[in-house]
Amino acid sequence: MPDLIIKNISKLVTPTGTAGTPGNRMNELRIVDHAMIAIADGKIAYAGETHDYTGSPDAKKVIDADGMIALPGFVDSHTHLVFAGNRAEEFDLRSRGKSYAEIAESGGGIKSTVKATRKATKDELHSLAKKRLAECIGLGTTTIEIKSGYGLEGAAEMKMLEVIGQLHDESPATVVATFLGAHDLPEEVHGSRQEYLSLIFHDMFPRIWPKRMAKYCDVFCEEGYFSPQDARQLFAKARDFGMKPKVHADQLSDFGGVSLAAEVKAISADHLEFASDEGLDAMREAGTVATLLPGAAYQLNMDFPDARRFVSKDLVVALASDYNPGSSTTGNMQLMMNMACCRMNMSCAEALTAATLNGAAALELADVTGSLQSGKRADVILCELEEWQEIIYRFGHNPVKKVIAGGAVVS
Ligand code: NIG
Ligand code: FE
Repeated sequence: MPDLIIKNISKLVTPTGTAGTPGNRMNELRIVDHAMIAIADGKIAYAGETHDYTGSPDAKKVIDADGMIALPGFVDSHTHLVFAGNRAEEFDLRSRGKSYAEIAESGGGIKSTVKATRKATKDELHSLAKKRLAECIGLGTTTIEIKSGYGLEGAAEMKMLEVIGQLHDESPATVVATFLGAHDLPEEVHGSRQEYLSLIFHDMFPRIWPKRMAKYCDVFCEEGYFSPQDARQLFAKARDFGMKPKVHADQLSDFGGVSLAAEVKAISADHLEFASDEGLDAMREAGTVATLLPGAAYQLNMDFPDARRFVSKDLVVALASDYNPGSSTTGNMQLMMNMACCRMNMSCAEALTAATLNGAAALELADVTGSLQSGKRADVILCELEEWQEIIYRFGHNPVKKVIAGGAVVS
């Protein structure tokens, strides 16, 4: 007998497959009318037409979806949601014409969040992050990656990773940790990237490794931050400590971050506003997922990357929120899909695939979640909508009425 049956689903809409979907195939959705989902042991036992179901009609718990639409829970593969402090004033400065770079140069930006995050206790950080995560779940996210990177020294980076670990242990959502020590240079190293990298290699990596505190290692590969050569060194060491590469690449300039990501066979390269054609071709060959972060382009008032470029290159394209206090102050994946369709020329089907299955591919979880298929984790959202595209079209409105993560009703 299933643990849970969700009946009376007007439409079940999902990408298919157990790997990231590239290019135009992102448009291929499975759409089933009059559907139901049966869940056992936290996994989907059946997802399809009600009259084709041959399993037990009884279950320990039954949810009547009453005509709602079922979609896979969103997979947000790039966030920085553990942080302290508030940068609303910077936002106001930017609205008066100051640039992100100018604010960073005058001691604001990432450095101001580092100051506040270092000062906060672990409990304070945890309680702030827990609220943000609950909000993301309420908006339909059931899998989320969270990066460190606002500590920039051993103890504070570990504090962030411990908080991410706590969220992982207690949250119904799946939480994946990424170490982003190479997010910026701390003031103490006075601009010496080599000194800071040495601190990462000899102090931070050895602390992370015994408890396997992070699955990935990320770097902000950008002029004024870390060069492709720095990143090469970082990833060579990170692999020894069991962490696979992810890259913040070519967000503010064509700095070779995308080619570097391909060279090190990064799991994903993210941002990509200034990615070169050759870099994107190399990424496809390397199997690196192209993660676009519309929230950052929007809030930094930059030109949005054109999704057609990435789709026509047959890349596996993911969408993520980049939730952080500077450049994208939301974890709302519905809004990301809206921006992708309104400003980046994505179709609704491409946006849904990018926000679910391909996000899962960016976390090497496409065989586990990201679509409504038998055997996958039961990560399902029920939405009060007439047409499924409305989850994208009606921006600013949250139609998610029920969130099921790993088979548990969580919101
Ligand atoms: O992904 N690009 C670097 N990191 C963040 C911004 C962090 C911040 O401003 O606090 C990003 O956009
Ligand atoms: Fe980021």
